[in-house]
Amino acid sequence: MQDKSQPSRGRPSFNRRDFLKGSGAAVAATAALDAQREAQAAEEKTVSGSTKLTLNVNGKDHEVTVEPRTTLLEVLRYQLNLTGAKDLQDVAVDGADTVMIDGKATYAGTVLALQAKGKQIRTVESLAAGDKLDPVVTCFVKHDAMQCGYCTPGFVVATRAFLDKHPHATLEEIRAGLGGNICRCGTYDGITKCSLELAQKGGA
Ligand code: FES
Repeated sequence: MQDKSQPSRGRPSFNRRDFLKGSGAAVAATAALDAQREAQAAEEKTVSGSTKLTLNVNGKDHEVTVEPRTTLLEVLRYQLNLTGAKDLQDVAVDGADTVMIDGKATYAGTVLALQAKGKQIRTVESLAAGDKLDPVVTCFVKHDAMQCGYCTPGFVVATRAFLDKHPHATLEEIRAGLGGNICRCGTYDGITKCSLELAQKGGA
């Protein structure tokens, strides 16, 4: 009968000391991992309660610092210096802060920055890359679809988002689809003509 006090032939010997050494290493490794996680969490939360997060805007990731109440519009304008979306709710220009979130026209002033995490955000700046302008922009110019211009960036983004989803829209559909944007100067005629022209070209 085999003597169980002796190690089995062919197997490495393993005694209490080895076990304790192994356990100690595992405990140390776990503690180091916990410390690393805590340090990371502390880095993400500043003393003021602000949080760091990454927002994807116009195809690029940006690390920003926000408070729970910070809106997407505030981040775009005051941290990323993307000032195309306007902050004009108090002067009745609804929709001047329109951006696209995952392709949908959205008022940036009504969305918390935290809610935009993980989404694709596009601002009016993405519709003009150097000399290359989106057809909506050139069409607005062609039809003189602006006066003071405060509402224009929002209308351009809303039109792009609408035509992407409804490339062959009718006049009625265009009027309904852009109904969330207001122009106090009354440039609706030019905006509508532009949208209709592009819809007749399949959204361009
Ligand atoms: S608000 Fe002035 S052009 Fe629309």
